[in-house]
Amino acid sequence: MTRRRKILLGLLAAFIVAQFVRIDKTNPPADASLDFIASKKPPAEIASILKTACYDCHSHKTAYPWYSNVAPVSWWLKGHINGGREHLNFSEFANYSPDKAKYKMEEIVEVVEGKEMPMLTYMVMHKEAWLSQEQRDLLVNWFKKEL
Ligand code: HEC
Repeated sequence: MTRRRKILLGLLAAFIVAQFVRIDKTNPPADASLDFIASKKPPAEIASILKTACYDCHSHKTAYPWYSNVAPVSWWLKGHINGGREHLNFSEFANYSPDKAKYKMEEIVEVVEGKEMPMLTYMVMHKEAWLSQEQRDLLVNWFKKEL
């Protein structure tokens, strides 16, 4: 066997073994009354943008795509969901103290205005999360008004 073939076979074996390390895809329970949209009642358009562009990572309502079954992409994706929920969890928003809620909304304005969110890698795989400037302005203006 050539050296190159050995390396390729080694990589293939590692890939196959990696598939046995599955991520946990159960969504944590969500109390509907604590949800951001349920408690703040934003206009339908705002709610719809948040649900399509943010809720997969920032809530307990994650819809896992097909490639979440493929390691190591799945591990990387799960890391984003854990990190996203930790920084901002729309499913628990009504539990935030008034100070924390205000701070989080300021951060939302900042990251949407600065085009830091949604994450670029997410937008590549979710065309519907590719926000137009108009949608960004809409979000930013509504959140500023709520502050
Ligand atoms: C693919 C997952 C993903 C999506 C989709 C996503 N985020 Fe995030 N978000 C993260 C992660 C991960 C972090 C943690 C900080 C980091 O790694 O950049 C984060 C951090 C944040 C923060 C905190 C920033 C800080 O400085 O701590 C805000 C606010 C935020 N996101 C808002 C949004 C909004 C609003 C949307 C939708 C328009 C969105 N995110 C979509 C994954 C995501």
